[in-house]
Amino acid sequence: MNANLRAQFPSLNPASNPQPHGVRLAFLDSAASALKPQAVIDAHSRVLSGPYANIHRGLYHNSATTTAAYEAARAQVAFFLGLPVGGENSLVFTRNTTEAINLVAHSFAKPRLKPGGAIVLTELEHHANIVPWQMVAAATGAVIRVIPLAADRHSLDLSNAEALLRGATVLALTHMSNVLGVRPPLTHLVPLAKRLGVAVLLDGSQAAVHGPINLTELAKLGVDFWCMTGHKLYGPTGVGLLWGRPELLATMPPYQGGGDMIEQVKLPTGTTFAAPPARFEAGTPAIAEAIALGAAAGWVQQHGWAAIQAHEQAMAVQLSAALADLGFIEVYSPPHTGIAAFNVRGAHPADVATLLDQQGVAVRSGHHCAMPLMSALGLPQGCLRASIGIYTTAADLTQLAQALIKAQRLLVP
Ligand SMILES: Cc1ncc(COP(=O)(O)O)c(C=O)c1O
Repeated sequence: MNANLRAQFPSLNPASNPQPHGVRLAFLDSAASALKPQAVIDAHSRVLSGPYANIHRGLYHNSATTTAAYEAARAQVAFFLGLPVGGENSLVFTRNTTEAINLVAHSFAKPRLKPGGAIVLTELEHHANIVPWQMVAAATGAVIRVIPLAADRHSLDLSNAEALLRGATVLALTHMSNVLGVRPPLTHLVPLAKRLGVAVLLDGSQAAVHGPINLTELAKLGVDFWCMTGHKLYGPTGVGLLWGRPELLATMPPYQGGGDMIEQVKLPTGTTFAAPPARFEAGTPAIAEAIALGAAAGWVQQHGWAAIQAHEQAMAVQLSAALADLGFIEVYSPPHTGIAAFNVRGAHPADVATLLDQQGVAVRSGHHCAMPLMSALGLPQGCLRASIGIYTTAADLTQLAQALIKAQRLLVP
């Protein structure tokens, strides 16, 4: 990627943004949340400073204009995700991935679960794809079954997958791990789940950022629900997406009640609900954020996945090589995924992260909202995670390596 691209991210511009500790910023925490390009910031502020009004409820010009922009963003994101024209009606704007998974857990799974029923998760999951399922399991008397990590500590052990899936209602799994960067073998697991009558939810939070998503193809494979969060795709916080198979969404009761999701409201009872997606968007949504998410999808598309992937792959190779060259790093993720999970031998990850920060290097440390995975990896203190984004450069990775050398010298006797 060229300097011109980095210049589109104001957070990386030392002139407009004082650099931490007066040192050049090497931002290597995109897996937690990505920086925002000016095009997204502009799209967001255009809504707030332009002909703004609430959506779906006013006949006057500003309301019609904002409503059109909100629905156009839905169509733009649908196109970005490989849905055909009309497919946007199966795309629900949520607050984030977390809300999308809670929606499916409560509206789809809960009414179908019975005592002794089962939900299948994997040991790779983010807490957002664990806790909502534990809540509906507790409420219904269902159990959680877990596909464990394999002995290589990178992949899933599928030897017992069929038995785990048998009789389950839902298989909920990540499309790409936020700690190891690995992708579960969907072409094996999804058809197996379908053959056994198990609905499949994919958490696309990380996968959506690093390559094209084709929901039409995923639906053909057997995926029933897919979700993502806007802020990792260079979009704003406060907005995410749930895609659901239209025939399933049509059977699901609303997750929350309120304005904008109804057909008719009667007292004392008898209220009827709008068709999806409106049924699942109660109250005033994140209007400006949804429109800016549409702009983020457009911005990514304008750069093109081929160029983005070529650049990210080069950075991923360099990141793995930089860590391997140091000689004092324990790496837990497989090479070249673009998300490196590691520790400095003999040092606590929080201490290392603090020393990296003082040298302008931003990485995540801790359990990465994946405590069960940390346990499976035997890392009670967690680990460090460096993750790349579209704006990552070789200079960022050199800065990381140099900062790690200094941290190791200071921390490890
Ligand atoms: C794989 C994965 N799932 C879910 C989430 C939750 O995203 P959010 O907090 O935006 O709902 C994240 C974010 O860290 C993630 O990486």
